[in-house]
Amino acid sequence: MFAIRLVSEAGQPTRVVLVDAAGTPLGGDDEVAAWCRIAEGLGAAGSIEMLPRPLRTPAKVILAGLGDGDYRRAGAAVVAAVPGDEEIQIVVPESATAEQVRDLAEGAWFAGYRFREAPVGPRTAAVDLVTTHGGYADALDAARSVAEAVWLARDLTNMPSSTKNPAWFAGQVIAEAARRPELTVHVREPRQLADEGFGGILAVGGASATPPRLVELRWHPDDATRHVVLIGKGITFDTGGISIKTREGMKLMKKDMGGAASVIAATMAAADLELPVRVTALVPLAENAVGDDAYRPGDVITHYDGTTSETTNSDAEGRLVLADALGYAVRRLEPDVIIDLATLTGANAVALGKGMAAMYTHDDELAAALVAAGEAAGEAMWRMPLPDDYVEYLRSDIADRHSSPTQGGGSVVAALYLREFLGDKVDSWAHFDMSAPSWSDRTAGDLVKGATGWGVRTLVRFLENW
Ligand code: BES
Ligand code: MN
Ligand code: ZN
Repeated sequence: MFAIRLVSEAGQPTRVVLVDAAGTPLGGDDEVAAWCRIAEGLGAAGSIEMLPRPLRTPAKVILAGLGDGDYRRAGAAVVAAVPGDEEIQIVVPESATAEQVRDLAEGAWFAGYRFREAPVGPRTAAVDLVTTHGGYADALDAARSVAEAVWLARDLTNMPSSTKNPAWFAGQVIAEAARRPELTVHVREPRQLADEGFGGILAVGGASATPPRLVELRWHPDDATRHVVLIGKGITFDTGGISIKTREGMKLMKKDMGGAASVIAATMAAADLELPVRVTALVPLAENAVGDDAYRPGDVITHYDGTTSETTNSDAEGRLVLADALGYAVRRLEPDVIIDLATLTGANAVALGKGMAAMYTHDDELAAALVAAGEAAGEAMWRMPLPDDYVEYLRSDIADRHSSPTQGGGSVVAALYLREFLGDKVDSWAHFDMSAPSWSDRTAGDLVKGATGWGVRTLVRFLENW
């Protein structure tokens, strides 16, 4: 990740002056002020105006619009507008709060992302925030921890599945945790998964040459009073299995571990920020492949909690691995809250478009906290229903339930299916179907084409405030 520093004096490179909604520059010299008086349309959120100043110092001033105080958007727009070899200096307005400086830095870091394997140099060289205000260091540190987590989640998700198999992903978690000694990791391999009855993970991962794993990553500070369990779908590639996907349907399926990437990354950030809350990230990892050992349409699978699922579509694999993880969390981890993130259904995008996740929960307080966290963090979500009338679609003649009903709304019945594994021990559960916003088709705002790391920002804000 490139550096963002707080500096007290402006140097030579490209200077950025932020402009408020009224077109007034919040900093800069007399010439900038004069220009802003005569120019029109300055100040809209995310707008960029280059002010060439031959023979002056600095030789280039960028006017970046804040609109209604949208510092994250301004930070992102600046980074996107400046070539990767140019150092940037942003003049921090006198009036900026610590929260706004955090947003500014987050926006710059999110938009300045580049995949670690890309064969080209960084998208952004470095950013200096010019200020004499002494109170921004913590805000910048918080932004850095969140941004490192977003970069990690994006890197994991952008990695091609030829490299990214379950063992590789588990190795990445171990390597990241090793840099933070307070974190512990336990990785279950197939033998242990079989001994303990993780039938969903074993069925889905059965046909792959790279067998499944269950990763458990723990952040357990001494001062923690509450425990949140984060579960992420970790399908390292989804062919659909024997119910095979089409070419179009399969081409982005390396991203089918986006939920796993986000919960792992958010837990790393919780440790970096030393948040006083116990967090366990639980990530079932499997490749949904085609082969002799593939599970079949019509098979009945026994889950960790001992209940069974009939599956007539091997492409509904995510819920089968999540079912095991939920059952394990409920029975073994004593969570106060469970939040799962999953690239679960194409129906997420049908209902809500590409820009937002579908959120499911019965808990109004949790819903409000998550929506507020998403708003503060710049991630969109919409709360969806869990209608009891639809539970009958999960009925099976030969098992406790059916995993792939064809009625009831794809994203909704998937959520109802997951709910089955909560038992009566946990009232506080939220599920995010985030298949749509996990990927961006274009570079825009604070997203870069490719994986978005959706959920990291919301989860970290939620953990900070909870
Ligand atoms: N990983 C897919 C969902 C998905 C689709 C994510 C498109 C991102 C973009 C999931 O495993 C899946 O195949 N879901 C099926 C469910 C169906 C078989 C009940 C779907 O959405 O079609
Ligand atoms: Mn699938
Ligand atoms: Zn899938």
